[in-house]
Order: sequence, then C-alpha cells, then structure tokens
Amino acid sequence: MIYLNGQFMPIEEARIPVLDRGFIFGDGVYEVIPVYSRHAFRLAEHLRRLQHSLDGIRLKNPHSTTEWAALINRIIENNEGEDQYIYLHITRGVAKRDHAFPKDVQPTVFLMSNPLIHPAADLRETGVAAVTATDNRWLRCDIKAISLLPNVLLRQMAVDANAAETLMLREGFLTEGAASNIFVVYNDILLAPPKSHLMLPGITYDVVLELAEANSMQHEVREISEYEVRSAQELWMTSSTKEVLPITSLDGKPVGTGKPGHVYHRMYALYQEYKAEIMRAPAQNQ
Ligand code: PDD
Repeated sequence: MIYLNGQFMPIEEARIPVLDRGFIFGDGVYEVIPVYSRHAFRLAEHLRRLQHSLDGIRLKNPHSTTEWAALINRIIENNEGEDQYIYLHITRGVAKRDHAFPKDVQPTVFLMSNPLIHPAADLRETGVAAVTATDNRWLRCDIKAISLLPNVLLRQMAVDANAAETLMLREGFLTEGAASNIFVVYNDILLAPPKSHLMLPGITYDVVLELAEANSMQHEVREISEYEVRSAQELWMTSSTKEVLPITSLDGKPVGTGKPGHVYHRMYALYQEYKAEIMRAPAQNQ
C-alpha cells in the first residue's frame, strides 16, 4: 500500500505522468525514515530535514507536520512488518518541459514502505570493504535531492570492486559515503566531519554522536584529512537502513587490524541498547 497524490493504492497501480519534473529533471527531494516496532524513529527530525531540503530547492511544503505524521502512520499501519522504512518523495510536479519553475503546479507526493532489514551479523563481525573516490557532487549535499546520479555512479564503483561503500574525499578531506555518513577512530578518538553544505546531516550520525557524548566516549567533530582516513584505527558507516557498520578494508588495504575495533564494539552495544529502549518506543519517548 503506497500513497500517491491524495490516494492510497497498491504500488502496481501507481502511475506518474512522463512530464513529472522528478522524471524529467530529478527536480525533487526525499526522506528515508526508519520505523521500529511500528513507530517512526525521530519523525520530527526527519520532517525538519525535509523542510530544509524543500527550502533548499524553493518548493513549498505541501503538508503540515501533523498531516505528514498522519500519512506516515497510515502507511505504517497498511504495511506488514514491525520494522519498516518509509520512503517519502516530493517533486515540483507535472509541467511542460522548461527548466524554470512552473507556475501554479501541484507537487507530486509519493510515500511507500519497505521492510527494514538489519545488516546481517556476519557483516558486523567481519566488517565491510570500502573504496575511496573524489567527491564530484555539487555544493549542496545537505539537500536530500532525488537527483542522485553522482551517488549512483559512486556507489556502483564500490559494487564493481566487491565493496559495500565509496568514501568520498573533497580537496583532501573526508565528506561522507555515497549513501551514508562516515566516522573515523584515530588515536582512540572518535572523529566525525562537521555538518556543512558538503554532506547530508544524517539522523543516525546525530544518534552516534549523542551516544558518544552520553557515555563519555572521547569524540571530536572536525575536518578529517585523507591521511587520517587512510591511517585510521577504525572506520564506520552509518545510515537509517545500515545503522552502524564497521569498514575493515579500504581500497584493498586493512583498516587498523582489519577487524572491527573495540570502539565500534562499544558503540554497537550502545546503539542496540538505545534501539531496544528508545527507538522502539512511541515518539514522545524518543
Ligand atoms: N541515505 N549521506 C548520504 C549521501 C545518504 O544518502 C544517507 C542516507 C546518509 C545517512 O543519513 P541518515 O542517517 O539520516 O539515514 C548520509 C538513505 C538511507 C538512502 O538514500 O537510502
């Protein structure tokens, strides 16, 4: 059961006109919201980031926070599975092809749910491989834009190298992964790049930093050089669908000992505890 422009329907019945600006220009934004035990996690934060993305592309938000919450809850109710992820997508609507914004056009709004499949235990035990690439995206990576061609090409580089993610470097500094944020453990300190126009402000990134702070784990938010990435003790990737995963090889070389490190093990335990106690609780307790 999906939602498209005011109607709930099976996904097979959903149709979009070919002149939709999402199809023609990639002119739209999206969100991915994890759902644990049928509760949308950090919905307010995801909707705030959605507003930031909409402001970034100068598109009026078609719904209030209450309306979004009602739509999302209805999608959760109408789909099976305790743990799901909601994909929410808004485009500038359907109009004759012209780059400039059309006038008086309704945006296209699409919501669907997919099962949230937690990373397999063996991935957490062995860690995953990653490769590096130059970050060749635009300078508004803080907008969760549906035009993801650079991310698609970057992620495929990883797949072609039998790796799980591509870490991006811009002018000698780490930005993020093709579809995740990246953390580095260097000299026993957990490092995260600062939020800026060069990366997506991840909701999972926030959770990891909050857990580090609450549990007195040494951490710093600062620019991370390519040298620090390449000589890191540990590397992790984070996202709403992957949670926190250790990266144990980079460009074919082992990261640290080549096994998930002790800082990762600590964070993973804290994250699971937080998931059991907080993420699975109703929104007011998150
Ligand atoms: N992607 N950076 C990029 C480029 C991303 O695409 C994502 C998530 C993140 C992590 O953000 P969060 O922790 O809020 O999920 C960082 C989603 C999962 C996707 O596109 O499917």
